[in-house]
Amino acid sequence: MGKDVIVACDFDSAEKTFAFLDRFTGRKPFVKIGMELYYAEGPSIVRAVKERGHRIFLDLKLHDIPNTVKKAMAVLSGLDVDMCNLHAAGTREMMEAALEGLTRPDGSRPLLIAVTQLTSTDQARMERDLLIREPIAEVVLHYAQTARDAGLDGVVCSPMEADRVHAACGRSFLTVTPGVRFADGDRGDQRRVTTPAEAKRIGSDYIVVGRPITAAPDPVAAYERCVREFAG
Ligand code: C5P
Repeated sequence: MGKDVIVACDFDSAEKTFAFLDRFTGRKPFVKIGMELYYAEGPSIVRAVKERGHRIFLDLKLHDIPNTVKKAMAVLSGLDVDMCNLHAAGTREMMEAALEGLTRPDGSRPLLIAVTQLTSTDQARMERDLLIREPIAEVVLHYAQTARDAGLDGVVCSPMEADRVHAACGRSFLTVTPGVRFADGDRGDQRRVTTPAEAKRIGSDYIVVGRPITAAPDPVAAYERCVREFAG
């Protein structure tokens, strides 16, 4: 399982998404649909991308009371996505309820991944706004262990945390890692970045790559380069 590049389709319309995906005439990339595109187009965009033959990570980061998340996950499961996610901060009970909702009558289900602390949250913000005083690295590991204990398949984390998460939660517990840039590329607003090759070395299972591919002059070549460096 794993070792694949997931392309973040951070577009605000189906039209732009299809124009982008139309460029890929060979291999069909694993695609991430996030809040922007999903809220713009609704579930029809998920069905349309699926019909084109792509695997889909639906990145909606659910966080609500267990019963609400369970019911929402049951709906998402019906969309036949391959991976979806929630916030570990919703507690173990919420994550267990999510798994129940996600599991289809035949026992199959999409992979379920937990967000630990967003990479936009740092130690100072966590202490000031959330009143969490432990070191952020420990908070991330604790959330990952709680997600594993709840039965989830992995976490979204920084590539730099992938080895520690694997050490604490086991090698088969998936690490899905954004914050990836080419060595010669633009960082944009990402702070702690790694190259695809470095992410591979640290042990990420999936890298999530947006602008280095979507904004490249030749997105297909940029995607192939990512695959070569990360999964080659
Ligand atoms: O364009 P870029 O490669 O920075 O895109 C990374 C993608 O991963 C975006 O869709 C962003 O929302 C998402 N993401 C992130 N950091 C997190 C969680 C998700 O960059 N901690």
